[in-house]
Amino acid sequence: MNTPTLTLTANSAGPPSAEDLVDVLLSKMTLEEKIGQLQQVDASADPLPDHLIEGVRAGRIGSVINLANTDACNRLQRVAVEESRLSIPLLMGRDVIHGFRTIFPIPLGQAAAWNPELVRKAARIAALEARSQGIHWTFAPMIDISRDPRWGRIAESFGEDPHLTGLLGSAMVEGFQTADLSGHGAILACAKHFVGYGASESGRDYSATNIPANELRNVYLEPFRRVVEAGAATLMTSFSDLDGIPATANGALLNGVLRGDWGFDGLVVSDWNAINELIVHGLCEDSRSAATEAALAGVDMEMAGDAYASNLAKLVEERVLSVSQIDAMVVRVLRLKQKLGLFERPYTDPAGFDPLVSDKALDVAYQAALESLVLLKNDGAVLPLRVAGLGSIAVIGPLADAPHEQMGTWVFDGQKTDTATPLQALRRQFGGKIDVNYAPGLETSRSRSHALFGEAETAVRNSDVALVFLGEESILSGEAHSRADITLPGAQSELLARIRALGKPVVTVVLAGRPLVLSENLPHTDSLLYAWHPGTMGGPAIAAVLFGDEAPRGKLPVTFPKSVGQIPIYYNHKNTGRPPNPSEMILIDDIEVGARQTSLGMSAFYLDDGSEPLFPFGFGLSYGKFELGGLELSQQIIGLCDRLKVRATVRNTGACSGFETVQLYVRDIAGSLTRPVKELKAFKRVSLQPGQSGLVEFDLGAADLSFYRRDGSFGPEPGKFCLWVATRSDGGLKAEFSLSAQ
Ligand code: BGC
Repeated sequence: MNTPTLTLTANSAGPPSAEDLVDVLLSKMTLEEKIGQLQQVDASADPLPDHLIEGVRAGRIGSVINLANTDACNRLQRVAVEESRLSIPLLMGRDVIHGFRTIFPIPLGQAAAWNPELVRKAARIAALEARSQGIHWTFAPMIDISRDPRWGRIAESFGEDPHLTGLLGSAMVEGFQTADLSGHGAILACAKHFVGYGASESGRDYSATNIPANELRNVYLEPFRRVVEAGAATLMTSFSDLDGIPATANGALLNGVLRGDWGFDGLVVSDWNAINELIVHGLCEDSRSAATEAALAGVDMEMAGDAYASNLAKLVEERVLSVSQIDAMVVRVLRLKQKLGLFERPYTDPAGFDPLVSDKALDVAYQAALESLVLLKNDGAVLPLRVAGLGSIAVIGPLADAPHEQMGTWVFDGQKTDTATPLQALRRQFGGKIDVNYAPGLETSRSRSHALFGEAETAVRNSDVALVFLGEESILSGEAHSRADITLPGAQSELLARIRALGKPVVTVVLAGRPLVLSENLPHTDSLLYAWHPGTMGGPAIAAVLFGDEAPRGKLPVTFPKSVGQIPIYYNHKNTGRPPNPSEMILIDDIEVGARQTSLGMSAFYLDDGSEPLFPFGFGLSYGKFELGGLELSQQIIGLCDRLKVRATVRNTGACSGFETVQLYVRDIAGSLTRPVKELKAFKRVSLQPGQSGLVEFDLGAADLSFYRRDGSFGPEPGKFCLWVATRSDGGLKAEFSLSAQ
């Protein structure tokens, strides 16, 4: 392909340095061309409208979003590179959230694997596939702390914990970007949504957020601090209003915290039309004021809106904004294009890449799906099923064979024809050896008709065990797809109850984009395997766990509530002055008629739902049984520069081999600001045969105990701490230590 070269005048001795290219370009650009670099335009229309092509030719567009294949990307790139005055290549963006063509579990499912390396590998495959089609920039990871499962976007998140989210978000950034953005198949990551979007009131998407300063700093901002440290090249502002200032106009956070405190020197892009939405929020009267607010706050590029294009030139003319402010924004865009090597290699040749959905990609998708599965119940050790002695299985439920639905939300390029469903996998693996009696019972997860129940009941009567695949279709979670009632939709609960009544062992597999409220369903199943939306290879991964080829190992990255009324419920909450006291709690059915006001216990609990969730953060069973013991601390008091070594043994006392993820939680007993009752600090997974023990060691330092303190500074506070080594957030072996001031 013909790649034009730019004539450089500055520094004519020798090849130009990286900085020179950007400087030279900047010196040649008109204001209109500069503002063009700050525009990202929607290019989803097919064919592309003439005005868009003309805009690229005239240098009025710096980036596009939603072009999806090599031909289209190269064609438009050619206009930018060969027909525009300065030959500046376009930056092609697309949402590659949990895979491009090979679809990995939804991010919440990936989080359940508690395995940063696996997240990194999946992101690397996604980047290679996307880059092979001409994409340079993805809008992931989404690292919004999410504590409300009604919010549809919880599916895209890594759950409720800042440490886990920061770790997995950083791993995803590394997978997308690699160590060298100009290297083979690297793409830009975009950490989003800065900041607080996960706190949308009532779990309704786009709602306002009200987050106290301490919570904002220590919870919602924490994962962003970590991914900035990990080198995220770009950040996206949130749609949401934070305490009266929509995030897209929040200079204190963008210029102050992000660029000032953390030294972020990458690009900030708005969310889709979020600058114009400052008018709808009620912050600005018109798009001129919206553009001013966003630009002054630190938003470099506008995604899919026209506030910058329509107003920036005039704002410069009127000296509301200076040319140097615009230049700083433009330089951030150009620098990224340069880092990606787009000036030298603007076009994409798919021949240099593995084909899409390669065997290697499918292997990683299988492993990611496998590790995302969380076993929540296994009464009577119904699982794993043994092929020997099993004549038939009934495969029931609307999600047993729903290839599109199991891919989950944010799938633009994945194909259902690539997807292996549980039914397909079970038939492929066991057809011929076991009768597989399939009857969905319901057409979709939302169907209310009982018309197919009879068929499903017959299939179960004719089988030794019922495998019931329930949950949510992919459209029921994701952006703008919040639900107020998060029980199983449609008549699924009734279907499960009818199957239970037949007296066969029942194994339920839930495929969903969020934690569902399953209190009503739990008694109707012997085993419960939570599969999230597991992606392309969900079927084989589920089959492998059901039949014991693999042991489950996932752990919940988010708390499962007993009822919607408990929300928000999360493990790392504050203690209150009157924490729940189980010995005092009297629940609604036990209250004596005429009981006195103070007789029920004066502590923080619900009369009908107590204080505990259905399943706590960090919970997940395996096929072994694990016991912790021998907790040892290297010292009782550590200094600011010391490392505390924490050791414990874990023993598999069960009859099967399996996995345990040992978790380290800490509590700062008294702080200048009250601290959460527990905070995850580290974890390690072990694999143990029956009867085998392993030693788990952690290492904790003052940095792990740091937080934003009452005076606004970041650091640890000397004093007493508790720690727990545990297999779930609500228990474990406990010890105490102190941090001294030296
Ligand atoms: C979402 C972003 C996404 C963007 C581009 C918005 O509606 O909030 O997360 O990256 O669209 O598709």
